[in-house]
Amino acid sequence: MTDIQAAPRNLFRLVYSSRFTGPERAMDETLRSVIAQSIQKNRMVDVTGFLLAGEGRFLQLLEGREDAVRETYDRIGKDSRHTDLVLIHEGAAERRLFRDWNMGQHRLGLADRALLTEAGLSVFEPAELDAEAAVNLLTVAGGRYLR
Ligand SMILES: Cc1cc2nc3c(=O)[nH]c(=O)nc-3n(C[C@H](O)[C@H](O)[C@H](O)COP(=O)(O)O)c2cc1C
Repeated sequence: MTDIQAAPRNLFRLVYSSRFTGPERAMDETLRSVIAQSIQKNRMVDVTGFLLAGEGRFLQLLEGREDAVRETYDRIGKDSRHTDLVLIHEGAAERRLFRDWNMGQHRLGLADRALLTEAGLSVFEPAELDAEAAVNLLTVAGGRYLR
């Protein structure tokens, strides 16, 4: 039997990286306000995902209906709080990886060396990642920090 809830048609996933335009000390505050905005807006259009921030970089995964994800990404792309957006992956998805999170988040800190190692990386340079490595890193981080 097909489970329509688990595998909705037109489920779409997009992953991108970007560079924070503010100073490192403003990252926490920016992340807080971005997440507050995101949770509210994403809930309205049933977009879910995860945002990883650190080293002056963002790595974000968005999932939902294709039109909702694209509209959200277009809006995010116009935000002056970041720049140099690199589209790492876009395409149909079988299921949501972060279904319980309108936007989960984690700020990478010194204690996250083990997280990077677990994801097979030594540094957080999201723009250099291919789709598989980016999704893997986000999934490992989500597994640790989203409860
Ligand atoms: C790194 C980053 C990630 C963001 N993620 C989202 C998101 O997932 N959903 C969203 O609605 N806005 C997100 N935003 C905020 C949008 O860019 C935008 O400021 C917000 O949606 C308000 O848009 P509006 O002023 O056109 O209403 C993000 C911004 C940044 C810098």
